[in-house]
Amino acid sequence: ERGDAVVIPTARATQLTMNREGIRRLAAEELGLPTSPYAFADSLAEVQAATDRIGFPCVIKPVMSSSGKGQSTVRSAEDLDAAWDYAMAGGRVNHGRVIVEGFVDFDYEITQLTVRAVGESGQVETSFCEPIGHLQEAGDYIESWQPQQMSAVALASARDVAEKVTTALGGRGIFGVELFLKGDDVFFSEVSPRPHDTGLVTLRTQRLSEFELHARAILGLPVDTTLTSPGASAVIYGGVEAKGIGFDGVAEALAVPETDLRLFGKPESFTRRRMGVAVSTAADVPTARDRAREAASKVRPVG
Ligand SMILES: Nc1ncnc2c1ncn2[C@@H]1O[C@H](COP(=O)(O)OP(=O)(O)O)[C@@H](O)[C@H]1O
Ligand SMILES: [Mg+2]
Repeated sequence: ERGDAVVIPTARATQLTMNREGIRRLAAEELGLPTSPYAFADSLAEVQAATDRIGFPCVIKPVMSSSGKGQSTVRSAEDLDAAWDYAMAGGRVNHGRVIVEGFVDFDYEITQLTVRAVGESGQVETSFCEPIGHLQEAGDYIESWQPQQMSAVALASARDVAEKVTTALGGRGIFGVELFLKGDDVFFSEVSPRPHDTGLVTLRTQRLSEFELHARAILGLPVDTTLTSPGASAVIYGGVEAKGIGFDGVAEALAVPETDLRLFGKPESFTRRRMGVAVSTAADVPTARDRAREAASKVRPVG
């Protein structure tokens, strides 16, 4: 408030994006961006009422949660009880509040990394990384790749949506704008006001990774979103429940061409905990994806 410090992300961006309600209302109701149909609910009865309007399948998520925690896709009214209980147990903070979203039957989904940094004009300018395609399982990312092939129309729409939402959030830095694509139609899903998990691929695909871009943008330095090679990332899950783990298969994984590992150093492994990623490059995305998947499959966290 005193203006002694510049805080990035801005307090407003943080507040709006940490809660699904804040960002959804901003995107859909203030900016008029296309999203899935949605409603918020504070009780099972309100969830049921919401599904009367939204229909099935729908996706139920705690308003404050990430990585698919507490999230379920519901296909019929009988499954609403379980989805409500799961959401109440799975949120980061139990607000007793959920979003009910109509299921978007998208062709593919992307993260449009978008950078707000001081440009040549001396003003904050928006620049875009090549789109990152990704695959999610149970609401958690398992693979990502860059660039995602898109029609020129879809790409222009995606960037238009990304620019609008990041401009509304303001401040500087990198944003991970999550979008669903159906044909040339773009649906805004959510946005992180910081580097994005699916953007780990940029550690090897871009001249400057998403982390370097974020740091430069924060420091008021010029940015460069050049892609240097197609690439892919694949997640390494714990597979075991154990403390103080080590990793088998690291040498075999690193023997895969153009491949690196990032092992996160988490002190404890859970079966579905993300313990690291393999990141590969190649002349084309399909080869890079094969390499990253192969490398990830060779690494085994062991107790
Ligand atoms: N309304 C929806 N329609 C279809 N798929 C969805 C919908 N909402 C979420 N998903 C799927 O679940 C994933 C995780 O949902 P998301 O809202 O991004 O939660 P998180 O904050 O945990 O990342 C999405 O990337 C997408 O694959
Ligand atoms: Mg997400």
